[in-house]
Amino acid sequence: MTAKRIGILTSGGDCAGLNAVIRAVVLAASGRGWTVVGIREGTRGLMARPPMAEMLGVEATDSAMLRMGGTILGTTNQGDPFDYPMPDGSKRDRSEEVIEGFRMLELDALIGVGGDGSMAILRRLAQQGGIPLIGVPKTIDNDIGLTETAIGYQTAVAVATEALDRLQPTAASHNRVMILEVMGRDAGHIALATGIAGGADVILIPEIAYDFAAIAAHLGRVHSVGRNFALVVVAEAVLDDDGRPVRQGRGSYGGIGHYVAERLSRDTGAETRVTVLGHVQRGGAPTAGDRLLASALGVYAVQLIAEGRFDRMVAWLNRQVGDVPIQHAIEHYQAVDPDGALVATARGLGICLGDVPGLGDLPGLAE
Ligand code: F6P
Repeated sequence: MTAKRIGILTSGGDCAGLNAVIRAVVLAASGRGWTVVGIREGTRGLMARPPMAEMLGVEATDSAMLRMGGTILGTTNQGDPFDYPMPDGSKRDRSEEVIEGFRMLELDALIGVGGDGSMAILRRLAQQGGIPLIGVPKTIDNDIGLTETAIGYQTAVAVATEALDRLQPTAASHNRVMILEVMGRDAGHIALATGIAGGADVILIPEIAYDFAAIAAHLGRVHSVGRNFALVVVAEAVLDDDGRPVRQGRGSYGGIGHYVAERLSRDTGAETRVTVLGHVQRGGAPTAGDRLLASALGVYAVQLIAEGRFDRMVAWLNRQVGDVPIQHAIEHYQAVDPDGALVATARGLGICLGDVPGLGDLPGLAE
């Protein structure tokens, strides 16, 4: 087989494990005698003239890269090339410039590491420009369909769980209800997993409508058995009591934690404090799980190119790597299944998910 020259870019919000996947791609491609070109700042790098890109040889991939947070290539979660914001405030379709940038780099294939939004944009570009594309799923939100998990999710959950570990003793010391607001965009995966792993009393996710009376009743039970503190995890996209989204100034998520705290302190008299974890969940070293996932998906992405199988997203399925059509993955947005195993686990543990008070038949929590 002739040597190939492949490009790789990271797109969308960063997360832990991006450098691990870049490293895996470079090592796997170099092992085949191929060349890897790292494209900077996602599609923005292909729009620039000359395109913003650099050769990535094995010498650039020591094991430190495996541990590094962020992405050495840079990324962006703004600037859809089909609707690109221009300095004068207008929007322009710059997709042909991106496609031309790909051609200028004389690449045989492109690996795009991104979430569902990036994946949709990259696929559209690939279809329009005839770009042989492989997608690699990454997102702390874990909302990409047809893969059991995406790069970055496990680290985000680990960080948020550590936050609960640190909040619990201070909550107990001060008789407080601690509210932890976590990211996840429209999906409650981070909140649900974190709440279970970190021993929360209440978990609020966008997929399950809540009722303050049920939460107050649950916290009352917790208090009635002599526990002086409680831990509440709330996903950033949870709506307010009137069903409205809570947003920060420029329209991004943020604020529901404070809203919930205010209501709980009003309804129950509890002293509340709020921690908004924010981008801490995205940075820092990836967990071992994310390193393994990134390595496996990166190596497999290169294999798919070798096999000439494009328009595929690599995935983690049934304890091994696999691949699915990118379009199917985009179409199968993966929210938390309210009837799924983790929701059942939380309910089985007596955790209140906001709709009804948690189970009353657990040791120490019976009415
Ligand atoms: O999609 C990843 C994510 O971290 C979401 O969980 C969060 O809502 C959003 O990105 C934050 O985006 P930004 O980095 O633009 O603030």
